[in-house]
Amino acid sequence: MAPTQEALYDEIDLELSWSESELPEHERTRHVHRLHPYLGKFIPQLVEVLLERYVPRGGRVLDPFAGSGTTLVQALESDRDATGVDIAAFNALLMRVKTTRYNLAALERDVGEATARLDELDAGRVAGASPYLRRWYAPRALAELLAFRSIIGDYEHRDVLRVVLARAARSARRTTHFDLDFPRDPQRGPYWCHKHKRECTPVTRAAHFVRRYALDTVARIERFSDVRAEGRSATILHGDARALDLGGRYDGIVTSPPYPGLIDYHEQHRYAYELLGLDDLGTLELGKGATKSAIAEYVEGVARVLERASERLRADAPVVVVVNDRRGLYDEVLERAGLRLDHRLRRHVNRRTGRRAGEYFEDVLVARKLSRS
Ligand SMILES: C[S@@+](CC[C@H](N)C(=O)[O-])C[C@H]1O[C@@H](n2cnc3c(N)ncnc32)[C@H](O)[C@@H]1O
Repeated sequence: MAPTQEALYDEIDLELSWSESELPEHERTRHVHRLHPYLGKFIPQLVEVLLERYVPRGGRVLDPFAGSGTTLVQALESDRDATGVDIAAFNALLMRVKTTRYNLAALERDVGEATARLDELDAGRVAGASPYLRRWYAPRALAELLAFRSIIGDYEHRDVLRVVLARAARSARRTTHFDLDFPRDPQRGPYWCHKHKRECTPVTRAAHFVRRYALDTVARIERFSDVRAEGRSATILHGDARALDLGGRYDGIVTSPPYPGLIDYHEQHRYAYELLGLDDLGTLELGKGATKSAIAEYVEGVARVLERASERLRADAPVVVVVNDRRGLYDEVLERAGLRLDHRLRRHVNRRTGRRAGEYFEDVLVARKLSRS
C-alpha cells in the first residue's frame, strides 16, 4: 500500500534548520554568493547538505530554476559539475560571472583599470537614457553609471564589470535605505529612515558605489577560487526550462522553483535590464500572479520542467525540490511530472534580521521518476 502523505513527513529535519545565530548573514553570503543581491535564493548551507546527501561527489547536478546560481556554486565547491537554467537574462549573467574560472591577475588588472578611468570619464551626459533611468536616478548618479557603462566593452572581463555596474545601480537608485528590494516610487527628498533611525537623503552619486563594489567583487571571486574544486565546471543555459534542451545526463536535480505571486524575478533587477540592455523574457517567467488561471499555468509549467529534467537523470537519481508549498500544489505538480514522492522533509526557517524577518516552514521534497511498468 502506498504510504500516506502524513507518513511521508519526517520530523523537522534539524540538519536542515539553522537559527540566525547558528548561521549568521556573513556565512550565508560568503564569497560569490553575495556578488549581487537577489531575493528568493536558498541558503548555500542547505544546498551543501542536500548535495552531500543526494548527489555523489564527482557527479553532475541540474538546477532547472537556477536563479542566482546557489546550486552551481555549491556544486563547484564540493567537487561536482553543474548545469543551471534560468529564464531571466540577468540571473544567467550573474551565474556566469560567479562560476567562471578566472586568471585572477588579469581580472584584477581589468577591473582596476576600468575603475581608475572613472575620474576621467565625462559624466555629464544622460541623453538617450530611458524614462525609467531618468525617473529612478539623480542626474549626476545616472551620468556616472552611463559613463562607466560606455567603457565596459573595452575589457575582457566585461561581464564582471556589468555585474559591478548593476550592483552600483541598485544602490544608487532614488530609494529609501529600508526599501531597496521593491521600491514603488522614487524618493526625491530627505525622509525619516527606519533603518538608521535618523533623517536620510537619497543618493545623488554612483561612482563611489562602482569603486567599492569593484573591489568587493574581485575579493569575493578570489575567495571562491580558493575553495572551488579543481577540474569542475558549470554550464549556464538562458531560456525557458519548459522548452530548452537541458543537456546531457545528470546524477541529481536540486532546485527551488518560483512560487505563485511571490517574487517577480525580472522586475527585481529592472535597473539591470534597463542599463545593460538585457533580453526581457518576463512573459515566460513562471509564478507571476496568483489568479486561478495563473496557478493552473504554474502547476502545468513546473510539472513540465520537472518531467523534462527528470528524463535527463540516471536511473533512480533523485529530484530534490525546496518549496514553501503554502497552497498545497506540489502533490499535483509531482504527479503530473511522473514523479513519486519518497520523502517530504520539513525545515524550520527562522530569519531574525531584516524587514522580512519571521518564522516559517519549508519543505524539501525528495522524489524519483516513476517506472513505466
Ligand atoms: C526561487 S528562484 C531560484 C533561486 C535559486 N535557488 C537561488 O538560490 O538563487 C526561481 C527561479 O526560476 C526562474 N524561472 C521562472 N520561470 C522559469 C522558466 N520558465 N524557465 C527557467 N527558469 C524560470 C526565475 O527567474 C527564478 O530565478
